[in-house]
Amino acid sequence: MAQSFPVPRTCPFAPPAEYAGFREQAPLVPAELPGGPVWLVTRHAEAQRVLTDPRISTSPATPGHPVTRLSAEPPSEEERRAFERFQAGQFIDLDPPEHDVYRRMLIPEFSVRRVREMRPGIQEVADRLIDDMLDRGSPADLVEAFGLAVPSLVICDLLGVPYADHDFFQSRTRTMVTAAFDDMRAARTAGMEIWEYLDRLVTAAERSPGDDLIGRLVTARRETGELDHDALVGMTFLLLVAGHETTANMIPLGVLTLLRHPGQLDALRADPAGWPDAVEELLRFHSIVDWVAFDRVATEDMEIGGQAVRAGEGIFVLGASANRDPRAFDRPDELDVRRGARNHLAFGYGVHQCLGQNLARAELEIAYRTLFERIPGLRVVGEDAELPFKYGGPIFGLHSLRVAW
Ligand code: HEM
Repeated sequence: MAQSFPVPRTCPFAPPAEYAGFREQAPLVPAELPGGPVWLVTRHAEAQRVLTDPRISTSPATPGHPVTRLSAEPPSEEERRAFERFQAGQFIDLDPPEHDVYRRMLIPEFSVRRVREMRPGIQEVADRLIDDMLDRGSPADLVEAFGLAVPSLVICDLLGVPYADHDFFQSRTRTMVTAAFDDMRAARTAGMEIWEYLDRLVTAAERSPGDDLIGRLVTARRETGELDHDALVGMTFLLLVAGHETTANMIPLGVLTLLRHPGQLDALRADPAGWPDAVEELLRFHSIVDWVAFDRVATEDMEIGGQAVRAGEGIFVLGASANRDPRAFDRPDELDVRRGARNHLAFGYGVHQCLGQNLARAELEIAYRTLFERIPGLRVVGEDAELPFKYGGPIFGLHSLRVAW
């Protein structure tokens, strides 16, 4: 029988309880969304297979794409057309070869070397925000004061988006994410508002390009003629939204998780060289974007993990289930900051693997290390059961996290 989907998380430190049962049942299980059926990919090996198969598309324009089934009320033709302009350049939703044209332009901006150069700036941001928190005094909301502010400041600086506008783009992003399931129109309107804002910024940069990512893309576009205006706005949109919303959830969630595992936190304090492994483990353990990032559709009849999948059938890869698959990870439900496992799928796999992963890793490592070094007495106010987790939402995290010291 088909499972009803999505299923919410009920524990902050585990994927939805149903996932273990799905995984043991089969590598692909049928599920029923309000708008129709989809396949759920439950195991690590099949998840990697789906995310690398060129016959599997991520584009919402491909017939049968599963996002159109999340709601029983699909968008009208008019809404679909309005949305088309908005989608230009958002290569997360494009298949190769078009996807690769955009991604290739950005690879140098997010390379290991480039991110290494950005580290002193990220450190400065983290220190400044902690100075402000200490000045204002205990208690504080770690989401507002730190978790959301670190990645927002960093991505604004990289792109050339004024940080003074952060209330605007953070609140619209929040609406886009929280309304994604129950009010798609509100989510689209919020997205369009950010798009129009970036449209104005890009237009200004086209007149006078600055020394920032938008300016560099404008200049490159003039040289190669590869990008039109809408695509440039779309790329900027993708980077601004993906660049702050995900990391902003991981920072407070990771802080809470480490405070709940004091032995492992003490070990990291004693040996800070362990932070990079700890970051990987926290990413695997929480898998905050789960299936939302992994919307796919088969473009040919094929077999995956012994299951026949037909052209036009929608697929969601359950990243959070694959990251707890005992076939890929020993004691998968335990947090082990020394695990050193790099094969997790928190950043995806294949051609769409997170472009910003080097930056996200640097931000998380610097944020956690600096916070625990500079505020050794940091503690969470309240019990886990009372904390405002984003249980039903598409990206997991905390709405707020009251901390004291
Ligand atoms: C903890 C933080 C982050 C997580 C968990 C995360 C997760 C992901 C995942 C799972 C994907 C794959 C989507 C797919 O397969 O369709 C992805 C793609 C992407 N991410 Fe991230 N991300 C994070 C941070 C960032 C940052 C900081 C940036 C940019 C500054 C960024 C930019 C992107 C972009 C542009 C893509 C699309 C790549 C493509 O389609 O080629 N992400 N991310």
